[in-house]
Amino acid sequence: MIGLFDRLARPLLRALDPEDAHALSLQALRYAPLMRSVSDDRRLGVRAFGLNFPNPIGIAAGYDKGADVPDALLRLGFGFVEVGTITPRPQAGNPRPRLFRLDADGGVINRLGFNSPGADVVLARLTARGTNGGIVGINVGANRDTIDRGSDYVRLIEMFAPVASYFTVNVSSPNTPGLRNLQQAAQLDDLLAKVIDARERVREKAGDTPVLLKIAPDLDLTELDDVVHVARSRKVDGMIVANTTLARPATLRETSRAKEQGGLSGRPLMRLATRMVAETYVRVEGAFPLIGVGGIDTGGAALTRIRAGASLIQLYSPLIYKGLGLVEDIKRDLASTLLRTGRESLSEIVGADAATITAEDWPV
Ligand SMILES: Cc1cc2nc3c(=O)[nH]c(=O)nc-3n(C[C@H](O)[C@H](O)[C@H](O)COP(=O)(O)O)c2cc1C
Repeated sequence: MIGLFDRLARPLLRALDPEDAHALSLQALRYAPLMRSVSDDRRLGVRAFGLNFPNPIGIAAGYDKGADVPDALLRLGFGFVEVGTITPRPQAGNPRPRLFRLDADGGVINRLGFNSPGADVVLARLTARGTNGGIVGINVGANRDTIDRGSDYVRLIEMFAPVASYFTVNVSSPNTPGLRNLQQAAQLDDLLAKVIDARERVREKAGDTPVLLKIAPDLDLTELDDVVHVARSRKVDGMIVANTTLARPATLRETSRAKEQGGLSGRPLMRLATRMVAETYVRVEGAFPLIGVGGIDTGGAALTRIRAGASLIQLYSPLIYKGLGLVEDIKRDLASTLLRTGRESLSEIVGADAATITAEDWPV
């Protein structure tokens, strides 16, 4: 069913404006009669942040920003879904066009700028969904015109705690001016103190909701030292590495598209994101697990990211090129690698290559 849907949909979607194609794919998922087929190989199960993930592959933030189709995505075989980024008030984001495919590179550039239906609408959708099961994380951000950005994050934590499996504090979108400054040590410390405090306040009615921090791949290693230090001292539950990059690798073939402003994702991000996962892993020293994201488009790439230090992975841009069947392909490859090497779980190889990767030349 998924294969057929994919084969029919992909050429059509590729012929459309990328943003129209995205909207159409959400519509299709809303109405497709998807049934959860087989349950996952038990070796693919991951326990992280106090949650039991049936498999390590999630859909990254930005695909289902408004929580339109979390259950359809879970039925497709994702082990978890990250909804958002959500902003407290609705906002339109940047003017179109603001989403570009770099076909020859397997890449995407976006400058959406947190288009969001706003917290009330998204909360109503998630509340209506009830306790359908499945892990649904909520990625939170700030409205573009908010002066006290910390208060936006706090408000969203308070509102969404009852329906969130986990929270992602997104301080790494490049498309909201100044947002990435929240990664600077003093600002980050202040923000995380407020966020963790809010989580503690709502703990009684909402239970213990893990808080993850999502960072940019463009931090230099001194900045990463500071970010990990603050994340550890404020006791976040995990980190997501990484968001889109502002860099434009010299190897890009779509040179005119590459000039578009915004964050680059997909295959051109793969090596940098792998390196940043490894660099983060060696600094975190096992204090909390990592989610690796950026350009994972094969089972081999997923394995590399796990060996670099990711306990879980997420996908977005590669789905545009490879289709939704990629999820099952990666699961099959991971399971057969475990079987072949006589391992009982992926946790046995998380971070196995981190030291080697951090000793290599910096990827360009
Ligand atoms: C169109 C688009 C929209 C995105 N929107 C968000 C977002 O709202 N919040 C966020 O944290 N990341 C967002 N991202 C970043 C992805 O979650 C992910 O970190 C990044 O794209 C790298 O993964 P990929 O190469 O698998 O796409 C977006 C990415 C794309 C391509």
